[in-house]
Amino acid sequence: MCGIVAYLGDRQAYPILIKGLHRLEYRGYDSSGIAIINGNLNLYKRKGKVSELEAFVEGKDVSGTIGIAHTRWATHGQPNDENAHPHFSQNKELSIIHNGIIENYNSLKEELMKRGHIFDSETDTEVLIHLIEDVQKNETLELSEAVRVALNQVVGAYAIVVISQNDNQRLIAAKKGSPLVIGIGENEFLIASDATPIIEYTRKVIYLEDEEMAILERGKEPEIKSISNIVRTPYIHELTMNLDSIEKGGYEHFMLKEIFEQPHSISESMRGRLRPGEGIISLGGITQYKNKIKNAKRIVMIACGTSWHAALVGEYLFEELTRIPVEVEYASEFRYRNPIITEDDVVIAISQSGETADTLAAIKLAKEKGALILGICNVVGSSIPRETHAGSYTHAGPEIGVASTKAFTSQVTLLTMMALMLAHEKGTISDSHHQQLITELSNIPTKIEAVLKTAPLVKEIAEKYKNSRNALYLGRGINFPVALEGALKLKEISYIHAEGYPAAEMKHGPIALIDEEMPVVVIAPKKGNYDKVVSNIQEVKARKGKIIAVVTEGDTEVRNMADHVIEIPDTEELLVPLIATIPLQLLSYYIAIMRGCNVDQPRNLAKSVTVE
Ligand code: AGP
Ligand code: GLU
Repeated sequence: MCGIVAYLGDRQAYPILIKGLHRLEYRGYDSSGIAIINGNLNLYKRKGKVSELEAFVEGKDVSGTIGIAHTRWATHGQPNDENAHPHFSQNKELSIIHNGIIENYNSLKEELMKRGHIFDSETDTEVLIHLIEDVQKNETLELSEAVRVALNQVVGAYAIVVISQNDNQRLIAAKKGSPLVIGIGENEFLIASDATPIIEYTRKVIYLEDEEMAILERGKEPEIKSISNIVRTPYIHELTMNLDSIEKGGYEHFMLKEIFEQPHSISESMRGRLRPGEGIISLGGITQYKNKIKNAKRIVMIACGTSWHAALVGEYLFEELTRIPVEVEYASEFRYRNPIITEDDVVIAISQSGETADTLAAIKLAKEKGALILGICNVVGSSIPRETHAGSYTHAGPEIGVASTKAFTSQVTLLTMMALMLAHEKGTISDSHHQQLITELSNIPTKIEAVLKTAPLVKEIAEKYKNSRNALYLGRGINFPVALEGALKLKEISYIHAEGYPAAEMKHGPIALIDEEMPVVVIAPKKGNYDKVVSNIQEVKARKGKIIAVVTEGDTEVRNMADHVIEIPDTEELLVPLIATIPLQLLSYYIAIMRGCNVDQPRNLAKSVTVE
C-alpha cells in the first residue's frame, strides 16, 4: 500500500513529515523519501527503512515549511534509490509522491520520450509528474490546472501530492482508488494515506472522493473539485478513532482488516490485466514466455503453507482449462528429493513474502536443471521474484497479519487469470466459456462483499465451537484445497487441531473421529459433485457430528441436514474457492479471538519463514 504524507503551514515540515512516515511504517514499504521547499526543492530518498533516510539527510538542508514524503510499496520498478519517491519532473521544478498504479504509464511514457523527456526511474509515478510538467508547459497552465488536465489522461489508481519549487504557497492533491485524508489545522494542512500522521495535530479532516483534487493554499480555505472541474464544498469530519484503531482501518486486528480488504485486493490483482469488456486477460509479466508455457509438457507448482494450498487450487484450474499436467510440490520436500526436472518443465513458485527459504532453494534447484521458472509473489523485488525468469505480482498490498488471507485469494486470482489466458491461447476452452469465466471473475469482488456480510452469523457459530478440541474440514474437487486452507487457518491462530480432507476420504479413517464434540466444516456448493457431498454430510450426521456447511445461496437440501449453514453467492464452479474461503477465514478469526489468542502474531509463527 505504501504511505504518503505532506505538510503546508507555519512550522518546519521535516520533523512532521518524518514522524508521519514512521506512523505509516505499519503499512509496509521498501524505500522512502522526502522533498521540502526552501527556495530550492530539496529531495532525498533511499531504499530501506525510514531510519536510513533519516541518517542520509543528517547535515543536509531539510528546512522549509512545505514538503512531501513517501514510503514506497513497489509495484513498478525494483525497490532502490532511483525508484523511491518523491520523483522530479524533467526540469526538477516539480515533485510528486504517489500511492497506486498508473496502468497506461507505458503509452504515456513513450509519448513523452518522443517529446524529449528522459526518465531516471522505472516507475509509473515518474511518468505522471513528467506528464504534468508537459501539460503545464505546452498549455501554459498554472499547476493545479495542469494536474487536473493530466489526470484526465490517466488510467489507474492514485493518491498523489504535487509541489512546485516556484510556489511554496500550495499543495495539490488528488485521489482515485487509493486512500487520501486531508487534515485541517490552525494555519496548516496535512495530507496522508490515513489519519495516523494527522491525528496528533488535528482531528478535523476532509476525505477526498475518487477523481477529486484539492488545492491547499496558505491562509485560505481548502478548494475541492473533481478532475472534471466541478467544485464541491468540503465536509469537515471530526476524527474520533485513536491511533491504534486507525492503523487497523478501524478493525480490531490486521487479520480482520485484511479479510475485509479482499474485494479491494482482488480488484487490485486484476487491475490492468482483466478486461471483460474486450474479453481478454493480459499478464505482461509472462507474455514473453507464453508459447513455452502453453506447450509445456508439465507444470510444477512449488510453495509452502497457504501458498501451497493456492497451488493445489491452481492444479485444478490449469488441468481443467489448459489440459497441461500439473504437479504440486511442497518446496521443502522437493528440494531434498533429487527431483526429476527437465528443460521441458515449467515451474511456478508461489509465495506472498517472496522470501521463504524452502521455496527459494527449490526454484534454484529447478533452475539449475533447466526448467523455466515463473513466480507469483506479493512483494516486488523480493528474493524469489529475483530468482525467477518471469512472473506476475499479486498487488494485494502488504499483508501484516501472520495468517495469510488476502494473499491467498490474490494468488488464486492470478492462477485463474494465468490458466484462462493460456487456455484461450491453446484453444482448450471455447470463446464463449472463456468470456463467461472472465465476466464472472470480474464479479468476484462484489460477491465477496456479499459473503463478508455473513460475518455476524459466522461469529455466532464461532461462539458455539470455540472450545472444540478438534475439527474436520471437508471439500471435494477444487474445494478440497479450500478445506485444507480452512483447517490451517483454524490451527495456526486458535491452536485447535484441525484437519482438511477430501470429503470422500473421510470414510477411509477420519470418520472414526466423528462424535458430537467434533465440528465438521463442509464446503458444499451446488456444483458438480453436490450429491456426493450430501452423502458425506449424512455419514457425519449418522455419527452425531456437528455440521457447519458452506452452501450456495438458496440451498434447502443441506440446510435441512446441517447444524449451521453459511450461504455464499452462486458462481462458476472453478471460482468457488475465491468465495468459499472467506467464511472459513472469518470462522477461524472469531474462534481465535474468543479464545484470547493473538491473531496477528500467533505463537511460534513468523510472517516470513526465511529459515529451513
Ligand atoms: C499461512 O497462513 C502461513 N502464515 C504460512 O503457511 C505461509 O503461507 C507460508 O509460510 C508460506 O509463506 P509465503 O507465501 O510467504 O512463501
Ligand atoms: N506504482 C508506484 C511505484 O511502484 C507507487 C507504488 C506505491 O503505492 O507505493 O513506485
